[in-house]
Amino acid sequence: MKQTMLRLALLFCVLTPLGVLHAEEGPTLKKVNISLDQTTLRKGLNVFTDVCMGCHSLRYMTWRDLMTYPEIGLSRQDVDDLRGDAPLSARMLTELSAKDAMDSYGIVPPDLSLIARARKGHGAYIYSILTGFEHDPKGRVPDGNYNVYFPGHRIAMSDPLGWLDHDSEDEADLKAQAQDVASFLTFVGEPHQVERLAIGKWVMIFLVLMTFVLWLLKRAVWQDVEH
Ligand code: HEC
Repeated sequence: MKQTMLRLALLFCVLTPLGVLHAEEGPTLKKVNISLDQTTLRKGLNVFTDVCMGCHSLRYMTWRDLMTYPEIGLSRQDVDDLRGDAPLSARMLTELSAKDAMDSYGIVPPDLSLIARARKGHGAYIYSILTGFEHDPKGRVPDGNYNVYFPGHRIAMSDPLGWLDHDSEDEADLKAQAQDVASFLTFVGEPHQVERLAIGKWVMIFLVLMTFVLWLLKRAVWQDVEH
């Protein structure tokens, strides 16, 4: 009896993590070439401001960042054309209010500053979502809201690039837009990481120096003590 219990417990310990791992596995994401070169990032930025920003914000990016991050490196004139009346120091916020979003979509679209980092698959996830709209095989989810890659397959964002009804001529263009904006959002998630890495470096240097000082101190304190 005791042994059976033990075996059951063991089995439980082995199977539970396996079950959890299995549950986390979504559909295999599409492959995409995430590129951080300036041309791609600028094209991705344009897709973002033309399309995505109708609903989504980038809370951690200011208009000025588009000039100061050399990876994007827009001119002052380019930024002025994009930002309209918003001050240079303003964050890149959508004009869609939370209330209007709730009324239209039943949910406030998430800020996309960190989405590439937050989701498993990163840029490939964004690309897959944008090119993953299909007709629901069971016919339950309305067209434009059925997405193969979104957990549960029902997404409140309706097909922003018009992927579902595209012609085969448009396909390459839409794929390129999805790739560019996925690359841009991957970059947007990065600068902060770069900053953190830089801070991390100073923390490490500080710790090493501190250790050295403490070691000197220890020597000074102990040198007169008889061993
Ligand atoms: C018409 C409004 C609208 C537009 C335009 C739009 N989105 Fe969304 N988006 C939403 C809403 C609403 C959600 C929340 C979906 C949900 O949770 O069901 C969302 C969610 C997302 C998500 C998150 C999915 C997740 O895992 O939580 C990503 C990524 C995303 N959008 C990317 C984009 C990109 C990139 C563009 C531009 C090409 C874009 N969206 C354009 C409304 C929009």
